[in-house]
Amino acid sequence: MIFDDKRLAREVPFPFNRQSRTAFPLANPAPETAFCHMATPTKSLDSQFYLAADAFFTAHAGLALTFDDLTLATLYSEILPRDTQLDTELAEGLRLNIPVISSDMDTVTESRMATAMALNGGLGLIHYNMAERQQLSEVSRVKYHVPGMIPDPIKVEPGQLVGDVVKLVEERKFGFSTFPVVDEKGKLVGLLSGHVVKPRYAKRKIADAMTPRSQVHTINKKELGKDPIARADKFFTEKPGIHKLLVVDDDDNLRGLFTMNDVERIAQEKKAQFRPARDAQFRLVCGAAVSATRNAFGELDRERILTHVGGLVERGVDTVAVSTAHGHSKGVGDAVKMLRDAFPKLPIIAGNVTSAAGVEFLAQCGASIIKVGQGPGSICTTRIVAGVGIPQMTALYVCSRAAAKKNVAILADGGITKSGDIVKALTLAQGVICGGLFAGSNEAPGDVMEISGKLYKQYRGMGSLAAMKAGSAARYGHAPNPTQKIATEGIEALKEAVGSVDRVLAQLIGGIQSGMGYLGAANLEQLRQNARFIRVSAAGIKEAAPHDVVELKTGN
Ligand code: XMP
Repeated sequence: MIFDDKRLAREVPFPFNRQSRTAFPLANPAPETAFCHMATPTKSLDSQFYLAADAFFTAHAGLALTFDDLTLATLYSEILPRDTQLDTELAEGLRLNIPVISSDMDTVTESRMATAMALNGGLGLIHYNMAERQQLSEVSRVKYHVPGMIPDPIKVEPGQLVGDVVKLVEERKFGFSTFPVVDEKGKLVGLLSGHVVKPRYAKRKIADAMTPRSQVHTINKKELGKDPIARADKFFTEKPGIHKLLVVDDDDNLRGLFTMNDVERIAQEKKAQFRPARDAQFRLVCGAAVSATRNAFGELDRERILTHVGGLVERGVDTVAVSTAHGHSKGVGDAVKMLRDAFPKLPIIAGNVTSAAGVEFLAQCGASIIKVGQGPGSICTTRIVAGVGIPQMTALYVCSRAAAKKNVAILADGGITKSGDIVKALTLAQGVICGGLFAGSNEAPGDVMEISGKLYKQYRGMGSLAAMKAGSAARYGHAPNPTQKIATEGIEALKEAVGSVDRVLAQLIGGIQSGMGYLGAANLEQLRQNARFIRVSAAGIKEAAPHDVVELKTGN
């Protein structure tokens, strides 16, 4: 369908500014008008093909589109990718420096992943397939993470032999050989230096080979202050030749370890463009998923949910996500309302939905951020099993327009396989949630396994039988401890091991910044304003990937 200019003007309203809650004229002139002074014909020709979101999705109202079905048109730009800003305000008090969140899945996000995500400026949602008490301590681990400090270093005991340690280093392939020495109660009694962890001293007791407590450099945890890295950095400068600083509490129990190498690396990273995402007290941000648990009578287990969320809030959680497969439902609505009443200021994420009515419903119940996605995930089978769900770009468009009216943010959850998908999602959403992209990284729970010379990690849908047996059955509306008889909505799979999540994120962020550069967008608000879409043919999809070559190396 071709649009005439008058119709376009009617159908492309001023964008809505979430922060000021007002409609405002474009900060950057609309691309068509930006070109006006140069060549008027370009204006109408481009705008006949490349349409703004309202015009584009309305024109395709009868067709559900996903990421690969469309592409974004380039625009005149004065923005270099490296100068783009990726910060996003998801709710009052919840601001991220990159719009990327790791999924609340038991093969994706526990404290290690959540810490890495926050250190990179994003957010991790800790899954709920674990005992409630364990989830509380997972959140604490992220909130009390001291940058650069190893909170639980590997320790040895004075009664062991040096030979035991030599063996340990060999077996576990440690890249270090200096160990704090603690007694059975955890009190620091010395430091076993790497200089003596040698086979020639194998028969000596650690107590006889270690540097005694009186000569070990320590700092009380309380003295680390707001910037522990700066404090440790100062220490290493003042004490040439000392490469380890042990952290103790008032009772001289070992509480952590700084190494000079780590501190130097982090001091370097501080100059990086994307700062860690922190709360007002300078702690890393962390989210946790909660289940709309039911009691024996099938009613929402109010007491249990409120007690648990109360515990999470006490530990400093920045947001809770009421995560289910069907968010536009009474149970989820009741859970959100109850949490909103009990915790008026807590940013609440709820979902998942794919309709405007679903967004309005959850927003009215008190959700601040709404997850959009039903069946797009790489391990999902909801669309096959239930015949339900909407391809992601259409779902995002519909939900984004309802969300703007309700002044809530939306997150694109699932189906993202490349950075280009994130750019497309961010033309409509305030952030993205990824599972599969992070499941193969070191920070995801689970061990690496080798199959025919390749390394993999397990990745499974929360609607797979194994995950539901581990606790996620309620998310799919099933009773706990499901049997083979229920229809699962997810599969168990493997992801190739991809190394550290820092590397994965660096690639994703680079891609997002490139996309913004092409669209002349200095920030995410401008990306949403500037985006112009066009459908892609099957041949166009083929053309977009490397083709007609023998690939030797991927881009990175
Ligand atoms: P990706 O594509 O990033 O998707 O791997 C992750 C998202 O998929 C959702 N999810 C599921 N959806 N059955 C489903 O239909 C499942 O078993 C399942 N497990 C996770 C979830 O929204 C996640 O963030």
